[in-house]
Amino acid sequence: MRTIDLRSDTVTLPTREMLEAITQAGLGDDVYREDPTVNELQELAARTFGAEDALLVTSGTQGNLVAMMTHCCRGDEVLVESEAHIYYYEVGNMAAVAGIVPRLIKGDRGVFTGEQVRQAARGRDIHFPPSRLLALENTHNRAGGSCWTPAQMADAAKAAHEMGMKVHIDGARIFNAAVALGVPVSEYMRHVDSIQFCLSKGLSCPAGSMLVGSREFIEAARKNRKMVGGGMRQAGVIAAPGIVALNTMVARLAEDHANARRLVDKLEVLDEIVIDRASVQTNIVVADVSATGMTAAEFKARAWKKGLLVSEFGPASVRFVTHRGITAEDIDQVAMTVESILPACRSGACSI
Ligand SMILES: Cc1ncc(COP(=O)(O)O)c(C=O)c1O
Repeated sequence: MRTIDLRSDTVTLPTREMLEAITQAGLGDDVYREDPTVNELQELAARTFGAEDALLVTSGTQGNLVAMMTHCCRGDEVLVESEAHIYYYEVGNMAAVAGIVPRLIKGDRGVFTGEQVRQAARGRDIHFPPSRLLALENTHNRAGGSCWTPAQMADAAKAAHEMGMKVHIDGARIFNAAVALGVPVSEYMRHVDSIQFCLSKGLSCPAGSMLVGSREFIEAARKNRKMVGGGMRQAGVIAAPGIVALNTMVARLAEDHANARRLVDKLEVLDEIVIDRASVQTNIVVADVSATGMTAAEFKARAWKKGLLVSEFGPASVRFVTHRGITAEDIDQVAMTVESILPACRSGACSI
């Protein structure tokens, strides 16, 4: 039985070209800024985003933390969507490490308006923590990979800037948004102060994320990265696949999006599987399985037994993520597996 792993796009393995690039990478001590491959990747990332500078960090979590530490002081407040990864999945690091408190904004599929930012921001009052940063997530993971358009982002960012805040994008999957909407990532960068994006998700690198922003921001972020243990030495071994990724792996994300849509088409015919089709804009499909009579944990356990790995995403929802290595035929197999685990399919061999 072949296992089909749709838990996350983080399970992608590096390509042969990436592995070769690692063996050939020029190396040096990056804390001394002497790793030529890291320097090349940082220049490439800055150019790609139309930013002044960029910084390699170990992970998306570290990139977001370093960005928050750089934009904020202890006791400041960050405005963030109520199910944003920064708030939901990063171990409370904003509070535990950076001393920052969150103020939550409820988004519509992860997206909110400038007016909501204005309403959430604190005025000057001796009782309030200063609202220092707005953090947006694009694509929004828990909302099912939904995208902010550059215009929506401009609206929220303008409001934040007018209120004296900086704006950071958790763009772990920002290239998925850019490919889905057919816009360059620089269209996002020009409205905000910093972006974190992951090399290690759909772009298929083994590790690493990048921060992009102004020269001044990146200089301060470099010091904070050191503080949280992210000063790496011959980090060219991480940067080399990153260069391959930025040069060759972005456009193919469209295949993952097509496979996600194919999955929705196939699953939608099953009455027990409920998907908010409008949220499926990139490579993530979140399905409500409550009508199957199973909890998400039971659904996942049954799927895993049949070689289909999915993530439990809530008491009644599961997440499927498409990525490099998953084919259209795999998607058809996934749909058959899902049908076969539904209690209604007693024979275990159903029709899709
Ligand atoms: C939206 C988002 N932000 C940040 C991260 C954190 O990235 P990492 O796992 O590299 O720390 C993830 C990881 O899944 C994510 O989905």
